[in-house]
Amino acid sequence: MKFGHFDDAAREYVIETPKTPYPWINYLGNQGFFSLISNTAGGYSFYMDARLRRITRYRYNNVPLDMGGRYFYINDNGTVWNPGWSPVKTELDAYECRHGMGYTIITGKKNGLKAEVTFFVPQDYDGEVQQVVLTNESQEAKEFALFSMAEWCLWDAQDDCTNFQRNFSTGRVEILGSTIYHLTEYRDRRNHYAFYTVNDTIDGYDTDRDAFLGSIYNGWDNPETVKAGKASNSFADGWSPIASHYKKITLAPGESKTLIYILGYAENPQDKKFAAAKPEGLLTREAWVLNREKADAMIEKYNTPEKVAAGLAELRATWDSLLSIYKVDTPDDKVNRMVNIWNQYQCMVTFNLSRSASYFESGIGRGMGFRDSNQDILGFVHQIPDRARARLIDIASTQLSDGGCYHQYQPLTKKGNADIGGDFSDDPLWMILSVAAYIKETGDWGILDANVPFDDDPEGKHTMLDHLNVSFYHIVNNLGPHGLPLAMRADWNDCINLSCFSDTPGESFQTYTNPKFKAEGGYSKIAESVFVAALFTYTGPAYVGILEHLGKTEEAAKAQAEIDKMKKNTMESAFDGEWFLRAYDANGEKMGSHECEEGKIFIEPQGFAVMSEIGKDVGADIKTLDSIDKYLNCEFGLVLNNPAFTKYYIQYGEISTYPGGYKENAGIFTHNNAWIICAEAYAGRGEKAFEYYSKIAPAFTEETSDIHKTEPYVYGQMIGGKDAKNFGQGKNSWLTGTAAWNMVAISQYILGVKPEFDGLSIDPSIPAAWDGFKAERKFRGDIYEIEVKNPAHVNKGVKSLTVDGTAVDGKVIPVAGDGKTHKVEVVLG
Ligand code: BGC
Ligand code: NOJ
Repeated sequence: MKFGHFDDAAREYVIETPKTPYPWINYLGNQGFFSLISNTAGGYSFYMDARLRRITRYRYNNVPLDMGGRYFYINDNGTVWNPGWSPVKTELDAYECRHGMGYTIITGKKNGLKAEVTFFVPQDYDGEVQQVVLTNESQEAKEFALFSMAEWCLWDAQDDCTNFQRNFSTGRVEILGSTIYHLTEYRDRRNHYAFYTVNDTIDGYDTDRDAFLGSIYNGWDNPETVKAGKASNSFADGWSPIASHYKKITLAPGESKTLIYILGYAENPQDKKFAAAKPEGLLTREAWVLNREKADAMIEKYNTPEKVAAGLAELRATWDSLLSIYKVDTPDDKVNRMVNIWNQYQCMVTFNLSRSASYFESGIGRGMGFRDSNQDILGFVHQIPDRARARLIDIASTQLSDGGCYHQYQPLTKKGNADIGGDFSDDPLWMILSVAAYIKETGDWGILDANVPFDDDPEGKHTMLDHLNVSFYHIVNNLGPHGLPLAMRADWNDCINLSCFSDTPGESFQTYTNPKFKAEGGYSKIAESVFVAALFTYTGPAYVGILEHLGKTEEAAKAQAEIDKMKKNTMESAFDGEWFLRAYDANGEKMGSHECEEGKIFIEPQGFAVMSEIGKDVGADIKTLDSIDKYLNCEFGLVLNNPAFTKYYIQYGEISTYPGGYKENAGIFTHNNAWIICAEAYAGRGEKAFEYYSKIAPAFTEETSDIHKTEPYVYGQMIGGKDAKNFGQGKNSWLTGTAAWNMVAISQYILGVKPEFDGLSIDPSIPAAWDGFKAERKFRGDIYEIEVKNPAHVNKGVKSLTVDGTAVDGKVIPVAGDGKTHKVEVVLG
């Protein structure tokens, strides 16, 4: 069952009912100011950091779900309704929500009145613009009241939802004309404020939530002021400040009226916080006067429909350009829609927000993840390489000089988060992969010389190359008894906690390590991760390639020897006969072996081991891929492990706390499905690669949206696995490494257009039924118009490659660097 449809020409998903199985959201903003917006206009806004600089309030895990947002209410002769249905939930005569690239348009109709609201955050602008177009489609004149509403968060979202003894008394607002200012703590230690304005006169306002609602026992679905058709002109003093504009509107039949609201954020320099003169008409209880210059300029920027149209056109042009870098035309519409639109769009969102703020991540818990942000770059780097570069330097600056890493950092402070700390064994390796991806995309070898400090040596002179070096050797220097990398607190799988042995409720599996390992430096010196071994052998060659390019042949040979040794150790100690083990636990026992009672096979190490060709000479790659198909494949994707754990294994930690089929315990973790898709494509098995891809790619789940539940245009972290009661049900949509990795899987492995250090490589691995496909790739200043022909209907194998009619040996198109368009023809066979 579907709840909407794709409008590919407009690059929109069109939701046809407000009653989607879960709120289906979109993100507005891509630099500093961000908003989450659901198909009923729920959500919230923040500046840079969803925890430390929250602008509007949201209630988590609330009933009904998705309460809080920016709402417009209409009272049309006693019928009260919202254009997005919620929160009043009056049945609408018509409803539509169009989620597009950085904007959302929600349209509702009731009793002949149509309200179309366009929400977007313009480029280089710290505010959300909301354009409301009201049209009287009836035969009679209409007189009605329109109310806006936004509830302020008192900046620190964590404090805002916990520290009531203080923050029920700190709220401050001011009103000047049609603009309501939120000024909590501005006088004292903050230099930022927010405002909500409309480009017209108003007939009243409310700034005190309880006055707006009429009673503390009312919800957003029942505000008494709206019901009464008149604002109460309340002035908030403490409690919960809001911003609501009230406007009486009369429309003749056929007449329209456009109103533009702006929810903005501004910062003042410390010495320019206050203004000397008090503006006339200012409603305030303060003796001081806010310096409003920034807000004034922001309001001026979008105060007419023409300016709004220009802002939207600019946003559209930005996305036209971002999405022109990699475009494909394959025989499958769903693939085209994922690659050309939605997967790339999601990659921007994950790049911006890591795992911080979604409808499953509260924005309070996690900032930017070290491993997460590095992986996000893999899917994003071609879009805006300069932003990727700046991010790489930020992330690397949180690394320690021994190669260890803070696992997370806050985007506002850019400082490693001491609460969670480090010692996640995989973290440093992702940094090698992301820096290599950046160089492969841009050819900017200069990044290696960039000065990048270590967190524990902020003044020291270190380069990015030094960071790669310590990242690589952090693995080499921390090996266990089988010569495999120590698992430490966890590897990519946060829920395999081999040094934890936790038996006390409330201990965080990510931060708790058993005291018995204290003496050993904080984690077991026995537990080893086969996943990190495989990731090392997959990633290491990029480091070697970098050293070779720099002419550091000796260092390159030394690093290569470590990779070879790791492959040997892995094959000797971690190949289980039909697949690779997952780990050795702290007791030295095998995890992920046919000898185990449960959790006999795990997905994570397999793909990277296959792509590193560990044991390829004895057929380990194909055996492994076949085992995955046999034990992990099911209707909706590949489960993470099998059989699922049915009891708590104290030596494994969090993974065995999930009911079977969910999350890391045999859920379909789409992130690592991508690694298998890549590996199948790598091994030349285009059919399997495509089968796995089409099981999880969102556009393919659209028809079963009632089962899948989450948005059919973006990946979620997890789909209920075969052991789950809710088999096939998606969760944790939007902020997942799946976005980047599936972009890599489809674009670089299946379609095979892959940046390398010395050019663009073309090596597709596609379904044999395809006659071929076309792709356009902007790469290092040139444009490549690629046509892949598959006359023999094979999966893989480049028979010939020509650039502008000239044959090229091998699969790599050398960089032309002339800024021209080049025609590339590839014949498979
Ligand atoms: C989740 C993981 C997540 C970790 C860190 C665990 O509970 O299952 O997916 O990475 O928490 O927040
Ligand atoms: C989600 C986390 O964001 C990611 O870092 C981790 O690798 C996966 N969960 C698996 O545990």
